[in-house]
Amino acid sequence: MNKKKIDIFDTTLRDGEQGPGCLLTLQSKLEIAEQLEFLGVDIIEAGFPVSSPADFKAVQEVSKLIKNAKVCALARARELDIDIAVDALKNAVCPRVQLGIGTSDIHIKNKFNSTRDEILAVAFKMVRYASKKIEEVQFFAEDAGRADNLFLAKMVENVIDAGAKVVNLPDTNGFCTPFEYYEKIKFVIDTVPNIHKAKISVHCHNDLGMATANTIAGLLAGASQAEGTVNGVGERAGNAALEEIIMTLMIKDLPVYTTVNPIYISKLSKMVERAMSNDVQANKAIVGRNAFAHSSGIHQDGVLKDRSNYEIIDPAMIGFELPDLILTARSGRAALKNRMQTLDIQFVEKEFELYYDCFLRLADTKSIVTDADLVDLCHDINKR
Ligand code: KIV
Ligand code: ZN
Repeated sequence: MNKKKIDIFDTTLRDGEQGPGCLLTLQSKLEIAEQLEFLGVDIIEAGFPVSSPADFKAVQEVSKLIKNAKVCALARARELDIDIAVDALKNAVCPRVQLGIGTSDIHIKNKFNSTRDEILAVAFKMVRYASKKIEEVQFFAEDAGRADNLFLAKMVENVIDAGAKVVNLPDTNGFCTPFEYYEKIKFVIDTVPNIHKAKISVHCHNDLGMATANTIAGLLAGASQAEGTVNGVGERAGNAALEEIIMTLMIKDLPVYTTVNPIYISKLSKMVERAMSNDVQANKAIVGRNAFAHSSGIHQDGVLKDRSNYEIIDPAMIGFELPDLILTARSGRAALKNRMQTLDIQFVEKEFELYYDCFLRLADTKSIVTDADLVDLCHDINKR
């Protein structure tokens, strides 16, 4: 199969930081940006410079630090926003400005009290304005997820004519199902006559828990860039989680691929979790602390025979330090024996049932039996 490379666009520092309570210090932003560069993402969206002096400074400093990835800054469709974004990016090796405006009728009426024609005109004017100041302009059609598809196609053609090199079609409110988003992206790609002059980007929010599925659907429909955040942080229910997109592309045989190196995922996830003081839920796909934990007897026995029985990803691929099997009241003999051998606890094979019986009694009183619990338990049994 002839596979297409897609660009990975990280927006942890911009859209991710918009999550309530997720404010980052400049130092943290620089550390995260550096780690994203190690991961090999293609574009880092560093901030929204007009929004505050600290965000301006962050975009400036990230621009100086990053050498391989493109650095992007956000702007509304306003001259002042664009001027300030271009200024903040002036030291970037490969700068990009992303500017945009609402495209759903809900936004056009309720946010701008405007009309489709007026919004088309503003978008054209501002993309043209930005294109004269910077080579790479990305346009975002805000709330594309709820926009009329014919109008969206008109908007995409319009901003490509004005000079946009990338057109982002965000499902800003996480409203689409994967099939709807696939159809939307495909419709735009099949309908817009000048589409070959630009890349289409997908940017999905997680309000219905479908952000990653929608992103993959958008890529399969022909988009060339996927946007997301580390740990899926972001406004409300968050953005598509970058690690989920990357690992889906890595382990599935799809017509699209990425060149990022997933070995840095685990470290980056912990770094963002700490820096934002925003705990990753234990059962979060790929990076949750239970993502590779097995606790029932049937699963533990299977994993001890061969990890692939219950793991679709080798945790070493993402630099995840493998936890021991967790001992609980659902654990079986194979896991207990394995842990006793690891802890070098001596026992006579024919007495193993006694240990297992005592272990189950203890496990029924606690959610997890730790190594220390097990050592104490066996010590007590051996004293009898
Ligand atoms: O969700 C969204 O629409 C955005 C744009 C600013 C790209 O984050
Ligand atoms: Zn967003």
